[in-house]
Amino acid sequence: MSQIRNIVILTGAGISAESGIDTFRGGGGLWEQHRVEDVATPEAFARDPNLVLRFYDMRREAIQEKLPNAAHFALAELDAKWQGNLLIVTQNVDDLHERGGARRVLHMHGEHLKAWCTSCDVRSHWRGTLLDRPPCPVCQARTLRPDVVWFGEMPYRMGEIYGALREADLFVSIGTSGAVYPAAGFVQNARELGVQTLELNLERSQGSALFHETRLGPATEVVPAWVAEMIQ
Ligand code: APR
Repeated sequence: MSQIRNIVILTGAGISAESGIDTFRGGGGLWEQHRVEDVATPEAFARDPNLVLRFYDMRREAIQEKLPNAAHFALAELDAKWQGNLLIVTQNVDDLHERGGARRVLHMHGEHLKAWCTSCDVRSHWRGTLLDRPPCPVCQARTLRPDVVWFGEMPYRMGEIYGALREADLFVSIGTSGAVYPAAGFVQNARELGVQTLELNLERSQGSALFHETRLGPATEVVPAWVAEMIQ
């Protein structure tokens, strides 16, 4: 790893699993308990806003009780010590990377703790309910929605992510099933750019064969072990 200077890290629900936040797929995953079409699309929000807002209110409340785990802390330590470029691109809408101390974090699927006003387009920090349609703190319109990217919507800051991948020497994917694009395609993009690729996951993901190396195990074990190698 001595030639590595610039790193892009992609994280998914698996990194927060051991903090007690449900993953999306697999046994007991969130999408077994709720249908995506009912709660995570713009059409669902137009059809039944209260159902969607109640779902996100519950999720927003739940994540605030959770704590970062050893994998979040390890990435924060790497972020603090790494001299080259480093970008943690997370699909997660929780704030555990930030609470673990990481600074260079990009939320491509949005954030539970923000509300987006579709009238004035301002995103505000938000911890409470959206169900009762509170006014936007900026323009007072009652048009706040969760600042979460729904199925059928464009993930955030894709230009920055592809820019970081072009500069990268190493791409690391942590705790994601590789089921949802465009994030699932980053490993392919990285390979085409000649970037080294490493997967850290509990089990092989859908794109596992594309990685140069895969290390299997719980995030709280494999992530700190990898970070220790990087900063030794
Ligand atoms: N340590 C490491 N990996 C784990 C752990 C763990 N303790 N527990 C589960 N995993 C792995 C699973 O094996 C699986 O491969 O994490 C992955 C979680 O996959 P998903 O539930 O599909 O989550 P993710 O890949 O983040 O989903 C992507 O789908 O619905 C959307 O928008 C949502 O951002 C999400 C996107």
